[in-house]
Amino acid sequence: MAKSKQQATFVDFQTPLDLAWRVTALIKGHEYSDIRTVVEPTCGLGSFLQASAESFGTSPVYWGFDVNPEYVNTARPALAHMDSISGYIEQKDFYAIDWNAFLSGQPGPFLLIGNPPWITSAAMGAIGGQNLPEKSNFQKHNGFAAKTGKANFDISEWMLIRLLEALQGKRAIIAMLCKTATARKVLRHAWLNGLDAGPSSLHLIDATAEFGVSVDACLFYTHTGFRDTEMTATVYRDLSFDQPLQTFGLFSGELVSDIDAYCELHELNGIEYRKWRSGVKHDAAKVMEFTRENGAFVNGFGERYELEDDYLFPLLKSSDLANGRLQPSRYVLLTQRRVADPTDEIMTTAPRTWQ
Ligand SMILES: C[S@@+](CC[C@H](N)C(=O)[O-])C[C@H]1O[C@@H](n2cnc3c(N)ncnc32)[C@H](O)[C@@H]1O
Repeated sequence: MAKSKQQATFVDFQTPLDLAWRVTALIKGHEYSDIRTVVEPTCGLGSFLQASAESFGTSPVYWGFDVNPEYVNTARPALAHMDSISGYIEQKDFYAIDWNAFLSGQPGPFLLIGNPPWITSAAMGAIGGQNLPEKSNFQKHNGFAAKTGKANFDISEWMLIRLLEALQGKRAIIAMLCKTATARKVLRHAWLNGLDAGPSSLHLIDATAEFGVSVDACLFYTHTGFRDTEMTATVYRDLSFDQPLQTFGLFSGELVSDIDAYCELHELNGIEYRKWRSGVKHDAAKVMEFTRENGAFVNGFGERYELEDDYLFPLLKSSDLANGRLQPSRYVLLTQRRVADPTDEIMTTAPRTWQ
């Protein structure tokens, strides 16, 4: 296979060693229990194996797999040269590995670490790549959607879910670089399907600086084998726990991106008497929008009117909401509450408005 096509289908941005070190330092500073087996499922040149071996030393056994034999041949001696480290790097296709059997044969607690390929199944299909799992409808789409683009998924999403499933009931840490959207989808899948996943966090990384790709990316950090699955995860600004940005989670089957904001405002969600009406947009804003000056309503042309209250409503624009201006200073004239409401009654009920 030509080099660029090969790189595209295996999507092999190799992780800089310095970034791998920062990830293992985070794990080392955060975990209490000993790690007995470290696995990098798509290890490439093995930065994470090397950084892990330097951080966790000789007590764990290290395993790395990659589909690309050249990477395996480069990574293997690098690990072998590290003093007293027992490690195995093998050329294997992720999809062909029986992960349940493999993990059941190794001692825990486990650390599953790395950086799986960053490509969607549709993009892989578009470049003619075959590096895909056997067709399976793991997102549980039905009928036509299952057979068409709706079932598009990130390969790393599929891989992470596969690993989570294989780790059920085993004590393990998963620490993988991926798109932030992928991490959210994996957690949503886990939470909706009753998989044991938690405590969980996302630590943002600058993918442009680290990999030269402009995409929202993070270290996805989660655990299996804890008694209680927590259906929330916190997003942190960087590879530390110092600066939490927001906490997302599952509420009534839906992924809520900011739980604190949701708890403050959830009473607005779906309540009929506070129905949210979007789509009231006036090309005639200069005529229909008013400010109030000395008891009169003044429109966008500066014309002053004495109007009845019946058809005037306080107006907040999205820019007001975005800037925290929650006290309406403008009004909008709406002559109907529903599409096709008759308007002729305005002539008698609000003659100045009719005028
Ligand atoms: C984004 S790179 C990351 C490599 C390495 N984990 C690192 O962090 O530097 C993704 C790696 O996945 C490997 N890969 C892609 N498809 C694979 C598959 N089906 N099975 C095993 N490895 C695969 C590629 O060869 C590549 O080395």
